[in-house]
Amino acid sequence: MTTLADTRREYEHDTLSKKQLDANPFLQMQHWLDAAQKENLKDATVMTLATTGNDGMPDARVVMLKQFDESGFCWYNSYGSKKGRQIAENPQACLLFYWREFDQQIRIQGRVEKLTAKEADTYFHSRPLGSQFSAAASAQSQPIESRNALQKKVDDLIQANPDAVDRPDDWGGYRLIPSTFEFWQGRKSRLHDRFRYTLNDAHRWVITRLQP
Ligand SMILES: Cc1cc2nc3c(=O)[nH]c(=O)nc-3n(C[C@H](O)[C@H](O)[C@H](O)COP(=O)(O)O)c2cc1C
Repeated sequence: MTTLADTRREYEHDTLSKKQLDANPFLQMQHWLDAAQKENLKDATVMTLATTGNDGMPDARVVMLKQFDESGFCWYNSYGSKKGRQIAENPQACLLFYWREFDQQIRIQGRVEKLTAKEADTYFHSRPLGSQFSAAASAQSQPIESRNALQKKVDDLIQANPDAVDRPDDWGGYRLIPSTFEFWQGRKSRLHDRFRYTLNDAHRWVITRLQP
């Protein structure tokens, strides 16, 4: 049997140099995302969201990137969820993408703000109706005694109006406005390429190569 200590593979998909990087990290992100989507990479828009509330205990979970441009990276959830409560206490977070097939990792830190109710409405009603009912019925991250009790909450909503459901007030989106990006390209023998973008005092992005 292979032990964990012996479990490894080489990272040889690609290389990354400062010359190849776009001066604008949002465009660099777009290049990598375009390549990932062109190759139909499974779950390229899935990202780990790390947050920390007042208790200082780091927390993380996966959410889906639903929109991104130079204003930031957006996802949707319930504001009353554990992550929502942590963001209310400390509106800073980290997003992490890992694309196994490309041996790439992107780390993005920044402050977080709520999307508008209009943006939340538009996205909520663009979802399949079943997902809308599930989101409306679920008090995300709250305990419930059984699957049956959860299903009943959905069934009651559907019975009240099978054709439509309102977006709950506490369901909506967040935008992370980046202050730091890091692009990581796995390389042979663990001598990886890493580049960090930070904003200088003149609000220009500065690129620094990091040791692996
Ligand atoms: C592939 C995948 C995608 C997910 N996308 C979302 C999402 O977009 N929004 C969301 O609230 N939860 C999403 N989840 C569920 C979260 O990981 C998490 O269980 C949930 O948001 C509750 O987290 P919290 O208790 O830390 O608030 C996703 C989970 C997986 C595995």
